[in-house]
Amino acid sequence: LLVDKGNFRHFMAKEIYEQPEVISHTLANYIDMATETVRLPEDLPFDFSQLKRITICACGTAYYAGLVGKYWMEKYARLPVDIDVASEFRYREVPLEEGGLAIFISQSGETADTLASLRYCDSQGQHILSIVNVRESTIARESGTVFPTLAGPEIGVASTKAFTCQLTVLACLAIAAGRQRGILAESDERKLVHALVEVPRLATQALKLEPQIEDIARDLSRARDVLYLGRGLNYPLALEGALKLKEISYIHAEGYAAGELKHGPIALIDENVPVIVVSPSDSLFDKTISNMQEVAARGGNIILLTDEDGAQASGDQPQATLVLPKMFQFVQPLIYAIPVQLLAYHTAVFMGTDVDQPRNLAKSVTVE
Ligand code: G6P
Repeated sequence: LLVDKGNFRHFMAKEIYEQPEVISHTLANYIDMATETVRLPEDLPFDFSQLKRITICACGTAYYAGLVGKYWMEKYARLPVDIDVASEFRYREVPLEEGGLAIFISQSGETADTLASLRYCDSQGQHILSIVNVRESTIARESGTVFPTLAGPEIGVASTKAFTCQLTVLACLAIAAGRQRGILAESDERKLVHALVEVPRLATQALKLEPQIEDIARDLSRARDVLYLGRGLNYPLALEGALKLKEISYIHAEGYAAGELKHGPIALIDENVPVIVVSPSDSLFDKTISNMQEVAARGGNIILLTDEDGAQASGDQPQATLVLPKMFQFVQPLIYAIPVQLLAYHTAVFMGTDVDQPRNLAKSVTVE
């Protein structure tokens, strides 16, 4: 299979720009547009209404996708989720009740720790569901049920389009689970599916922020440390933003739950530490904005990712504001992922690092 960069300077940029299309393909695989419902395979060996809890396990960016999945499953299907990075999970000797469901998320389908965790869950009588991008992978082969992400080959070491496609599949799963468990009425399901169908269009809009993101990245590339803050569904995004930034620009970055700021990281804040706040104007906005004020009061430079209402409410405190379209809370992580990726990308380009093949990292980690 020959994949080239087309008109892009790096695979990563090309893959970021492919997102509206590949999310669309992934959605088409799981959504019945005529009825606006999520389509599950008929031979699914379990029923969400029978499950008491779910285990999710993955590494790196795929783990952060799983973390968003946990918030979704708990909120929209009222199903408790235990999630861990695979390298911890596999050695924890987790007690699991026979007949439970374990979900493994992996772009490559070859990550050694994820595979070992899968085998452990299999030995404990769990149903094994994997969300994988590479269909012919070991993880796919060893799973009872495979939910593919239709992202196409991902070449850049830092995962981008695979991440948003993993989110797409998890969103569909959460809706299906909510329906089977009697939590979501037909009209709720339609509303959520509607919101998902809008994602490719919103993603295209988010990509238009690129020139502004480039300006911000110029400043970021001069920083030694960067803090990323988010709350609720945006907390995993803060973690992912920090991971992306350190992976490809080698700038030290940390993602924090906004409410944890006062329990440590606030000690780092001064005019030299940019703080990127991911906070659309949702039900948690006021809380996160008060964290932002704590940063501003200490001279911190804030970069705010929000929507029009959020931009108005935050006044002139942020040094820069990226204004995204207003959208249903459910789909926010899918859209906010895009500026987060572009910020890391352009910072790395300014630093002159090898964006597609960052030092010391591998695309597929088959060692333990
Ligand atoms: C490596 C890659 C990451 C990826 C992680 C998990 O560290 O550099 O981009 O998120 O492995 O990989 P997987 O193929 O299991 O999603």
